[in-house]
Amino acid sequence: MSDNDQNPQPPANKDSMKNIIVVSLLVCLVCSIVVSSAAVILKPQRLANKELDRNKNILEAAGLYEKATATGDEDIPGLFENFEIRLVDLEEKRVLSVLEASDLGIDPTTYDQRKAAKNPALSKVLSSAEDIPSISRRARYSTIYILRDGQNVDKVVLPVHGYGLWSTLYGFIALDGDMSTVSGITFYEHGETAGLGGEVDNPSWKAVWAGKTMYEGGEVVLKVLKGAVNPNAAGVRYQVDGLSGATLTSRGIQNIVTYWMGDQGFGPILKEIQG
Ligand SMILES: Cc1cc2nc3c(=O)[nH]c(=O)nc-3n(C[C@H](O)[C@H](O)[C@H](O)COP(=O)(O)O)c2cc1C
Repeated sequence: MSDNDQNPQPPANKDSMKNIIVVSLLVCLVCSIVVSSAAVILKPQRLANKELDRNKNILEAAGLYEKATATGDEDIPGLFENFEIRLVDLEEKRVLSVLEASDLGIDPTTYDQRKAAKNPALSKVLSSAEDIPSISRRARYSTIYILRDGQNVDKVVLPVHGYGLWSTLYGFIALDGDMSTVSGITFYEHGETAGLGGEVDNPSWKAVWAGKTMYEGGEVVLKVLKGAVNPNAAGVRYQVDGLSGATLTSRGIQNIVTYWMGDQGFGPILKEIQG
């Protein structure tokens, strides 16, 4: 009779602390590999969807997306191809030629203004007097989207951003060919509260903007009111309803309009296009 038969070993304890730690670590490792692989594999798709959504917003601001939806022609990339994408220099206050953009090594179709705003070589710090939209830094170059009808400019869509109550809102303001009548406004990213500041996404509120007057005598006159516009008021053509219960987000939108449509923003560039 062997020693083992006389003193059998106790069965191994599967619930030992060592086993629990090893199994937990293995589960964590497998899960992290799955999650990070999914993030890497899906990144191109995620970026493509983001770009599609941004382009849809540009079309929507220009009033083209609703038309496309109505006719069942929702080919966003196809519709977006109608836009001429140009680079503008916000310091020199002018539209750059295709050659100038290329000399700068910037392709307007892929230029990332948000990334540029973080690069000291491509942006500037705004003084507190200049920083109306509370963005701290502004990229020197911006893209603009021009839609032509033959030789004439039919619409111009301008990227804008600024702080609301909780977040920076990123969107587009489109103007008609007279460079003053608002064609539309959209926001493709923000973190305002749903039902309050988040009502910037409400189609009824956005619809109020179409046809409003941005400039008079060369000055930005468009006003986002606190409360609703009185339809009989003298200034109704340049007044927009404030968001109910969201005065601070509404004020942020006003700041976005004042800054980006003014002399520090696209104002001089719109005059150049009009000229
Ligand atoms: C949870 C919570 C979320 C809020 N979110 C917003 C918002 O997104 N935008 C905003 O302007 N006000 C928001 N408010 C309200 C503001 O604190 C503030 O009361 C409001 O802007 C004042 O607007 P009124 O004068 O139209 O009431 C929020 C309030 C609370 C309690």
